[in-house]
Amino acid sequence: MSKRIENYLEDRKTLIEEALKKFMPEPSGLAGDVISAMNYSLFAGGKRIRPILCIAGAEAVGGSADDVLPVACAIELIHSYSLIHDDLPIMDNDDLRRGKPTNHKIFGEAVALLAGDGLLTLAFNLMAGYGVDEKVEKTALLRVIDLIASAAGYKGMVGGQVVDISYEGKNPEPAVVEYIHTHKTGAMIAASVTAGTILAGGSEEEAKSINRYGQQIGLAFQIADDILNIEGDRRAIGKEIGSDKVRGKITYPSVFGITESKNIQKRLIDDAVESLKRFNERAETLRDLARYIIKRKT
Ligand code: IPE
Ligand code: IPE
Ligand code: MG
Ligand code: MG
Repeated sequence: MSKRIENYLEDRKTLIEEALKKFMPEPSGLAGDVISAMNYSLFAGGKRIRPILCIAGAEAVGGSADDVLPVACAIELIHSYSLIHDDLPIMDNDDLRRGKPTNHKIFGEAVALLAGDGLLTLAFNLMAGYGVDEKVEKTALLRVIDLIASAAGYKGMVGGQVVDISYEGKNPEPAVVEYIHTHKTGAMIAASVTAGTILAGGSEEEAKSINRYGQQIGLAFQIADDILNIEGDRRAIGKEIGSDKVRGKITYPSVFGITESKNIQKRLIDDAVESLKRFNERAETLRDLARYIIKRKT
């Protein structure tokens, strides 16, 4: 990874974490337990790649992090909810996430379920509140809220998650694994970067190209997650290795094999960079982020 992109990731991550701290409530009152559980997973050490993409999507059209921070943070809240639910015993049944016990291991299943619900709904408070309080362009913000809601719901992540679960142990057509990955992971990644572009005043055409880029890197991101589940280092990724195979998960390596999965990944990244051809050097970060996504070790 180039020094430039390493510094960029570090810098934007700090910005996001400071903003998240500002937005999150402190545990107190009778519902303190659920607030603790929400904070536990949100601050358990994620890469913050979706909010970083949201910022980079804004910067690619001349905007800045300040224009998009509440939305970028809302996206991370939704991501954090999705992981808490994904790890539950009725879903992937994982005990370890980012090197720490999963939410339900600490707080119990009921509170973990509610912490996910709390994060998801708080994300929409945050975005609506941004519209109430700030001088943000309201139509652009409403478009972004609509985009994110669709990407998180049955047309996106929820839709992908249900197929991921229902196909465990089966032997599906390649189109099914593509459906799972583009929906459970690709949709929110594409929405993250596109939201940044729309909020920063990007044109319709720019938003379309950025969305295509987002879909391509989003699929590549999940293929990388599948490969890391086989070849990754447990300490580096902080999750159990080999769990996909144990659960009979439908993954790119299980359907296409490791070598072909890596070829597909590479083609996706080349296509993603090609999707940015109309953009000038302001989109260089997005080009670097695309390359980082398949090289990452965590
Ligand atoms: C993990 O996402 C779940 C997937 C959709 C692959 P990340 O790899 O972005 O998780 P964190 O937030 O950095 O831990
Ligand atoms: C998670 O997919 C996708 C979500 C929407 C949460 P996985 O189940 O493959 O991700 P990990 O490996 O647990 O992070
Ligand atoms: Mg899962
Ligand atoms: Mg999982």
